[in-house]
Amino acid sequence: MSQENIESVLDETRVFEPPQSDTSFSSIADWQRACDNFEADFEGTWGDLARQNLTWQKPFHTVLNSDKPPFYRWFEDGNINLSENCLDRHVNNGLGERTAIIWEGEPGDVRHISYQQLLAEVCQAANSLKTLGVVKGDRVIIYMPMIPEAAVAMLACARIGATHSVVFGAFSAQALRDRVEDAAATLIITADGGYRRGAVHSLKNSVDEALSQGCPSLKHVLVVKRGQNDVNWVDNRDIDWTTLLTQQATTCPPETIASEHPLFILYTSGSTGKPKGIVHSTGGYLLWAHLTMLYSFDFKPASDVFWCTADVGWITGHTYSVYGPLSNGGTTVMYEGVPTYPDAGRLWKICQDHKVSIFYTAPTAIRALNKAGDQYPNAYDLSKLRVLGTVGEPINPEAWMWYYKVIGGERCPVVDTWWQTETGGHMLAPMPFATPTKPGSATHALPGIATEIVDAQGDVVQKGGGLLVITKPWPSMLRGIWGDEVRFIETYWQKFADKGYYFAGDGARKDEDGYFWIMGRVDDVLNVSGHRLGTMEIESALVSHDAVAEAAVVGCPDDIKGEGIFAFVILKTAVTEGLEQELRAHVTKTIGAIAKPDVIRFTENLPKTRSGKIMRRLLRDIAAGREITSDISTLEDQAVVAQLQGKTVS
Ligand code: WTA
Repeated sequence: MSQENIESVLDETRVFEPPQSDTSFSSIADWQRACDNFEADFEGTWGDLARQNLTWQKPFHTVLNSDKPPFYRWFEDGNINLSENCLDRHVNNGLGERTAIIWEGEPGDVRHISYQQLLAEVCQAANSLKTLGVVKGDRVIIYMPMIPEAAVAMLACARIGATHSVVFGAFSAQALRDRVEDAAATLIITADGGYRRGAVHSLKNSVDEALSQGCPSLKHVLVVKRGQNDVNWVDNRDIDWTTLLTQQATTCPPETIASEHPLFILYTSGSTGKPKGIVHSTGGYLLWAHLTMLYSFDFKPASDVFWCTADVGWITGHTYSVYGPLSNGGTTVMYEGVPTYPDAGRLWKICQDHKVSIFYTAPTAIRALNKAGDQYPNAYDLSKLRVLGTVGEPINPEAWMWYYKVIGGERCPVVDTWWQTETGGHMLAPMPFATPTKPGSATHALPGIATEIVDAQGDVVQKGGGLLVITKPWPSMLRGIWGDEVRFIETYWQKFADKGYYFAGDGARKDEDGYFWIMGRVDDVLNVSGHRLGTMEIESALVSHDAVAEAAVVGCPDDIKGEGIFAFVILKTAVTEGLEQELRAHVTKTIGAIAKPDVIRFTENLPKTRSGKIMRRLLRDIAAGREITSDISTLEDQAVVAQLQGKTVS
């Protein structure tokens, strides 16, 4: 979070009482009661919720196995099929005709898919996967635009117990390759292309490039024809989705799946090394995806239309575009394109046209649409909206107020949800009709979730700033990092090992009312437009260019994106014309456009302490154009500061 934002948040004193509503959580006492239930009987309460809200193939007896922390196991002797919970149980309950997915393509094409239709298509896709030799436990990469087939592919994997790993469609061929290799995937499900900003963005080409040097584990590529763009076709490897699916039966018995079976791997950035594959389970993950829809959004499946704008390539898209709404038997909206195409009114038009009642997006989108002007939302009927959500990065009070006033008409509670890829679902969030809100605060932990702010020793800080930790296990917690137990322990559990706390990597503050205010990452992870990027990942991408000797990347304040990317680069050669552009293109090719530096500053030196560590705080001050607050007395070469500030051009 930028210094300016921190200051505005620190000054924030406004409180908004929750609107009245006829719902099961309609006052803070209801929230407290739900929390007390967990306090009185932690495992018993989780067990009851899991039995009441999900359909089990085989009931569980053990709620939580804590034999080998941090390798917690939830409902481990139970069996549960996620796709059965998201589809069959609703169809069997007479809801087959209800709309499961409302999809809008960027050009304006619309599809309404009922639960009955979705079940049939998922079965056909599941049968297709079997035909291609995919069996329980195999890994399947999903690299797709936001089209219904992406959700179908995820549910089909879940139906047969294949572990999916969705890779965001804007990641580069190289990033895709890294993930295919790390997961040793046997199949990629992709599309020829998808619409973005009025043009077809090809995905299949990236797949071909990713596989061009061979990939031993990979057997097939299943291709949905969405863009109708010309694509290369490798016989025997590439298979047309529609041709294969239409040959399959529309029924497919759900595979028996153990609750702890890995439902998916989702790669996310850390402060060191390559992105890590966060592993999520089936039963525990689904339970929290299901419940948080009710707690944080007051989701009413029979009447709400829920729209989470996140791409399925991110955790938010997994939990709140697909699994949460569908597990509850409700209607979820999916949109293929960008929020500003053909103009900044697109999201509001979709809200109007599809009668969206719960809308969930990221602060970066709110800020961008705020800047575009009120005439866009004012041109549409947003009266169906009743709850507004935000996620992914701290929301500045100004953006919160605009969202509340202009989008929500001062009628809709704003739920600021703090969570992570690792947590599977919301951890801190108001309950919309129970919790008084404050602009910029994610308020309290949800019932069942134990969060604290601690100092460096792990001692709880009652009021003031510190590190955010989760002190008790929760069902949707990550189960590990794919193939790397050591990194799993080191990243999340080592810091407070004696207490057994999960270390989230965020700084936070608690105010006098016990409200949590997230202050941003305390590690070398950037949050650019709500997307997580490791500074080291971008540095490695830069250094892999022939001209670059060394690079240091830090975040800098950005009004829209929250954080921008600022790269200090030492060259092996002299600066040549066009080199800056070339380096940006190189990062785009290596990781994806989201990692492209906003500013590249060439320098002859980087500020290092005498022990050789890069002084990142100093670089952050320079990148922000702030007065230097760090102690630079340990800096080896004091002259370097002026150069880094751009005062001397190399
Ligand atoms: C940040 C996204 C402030 C935080 C669901 C966290 C937030 C990281 C909020 C996880 C919020 C997420 N307020 N910061 N409401 N939500 N963050 O894994 O730094 O992509 O650690 O998960 O985003 O990002 P991830």
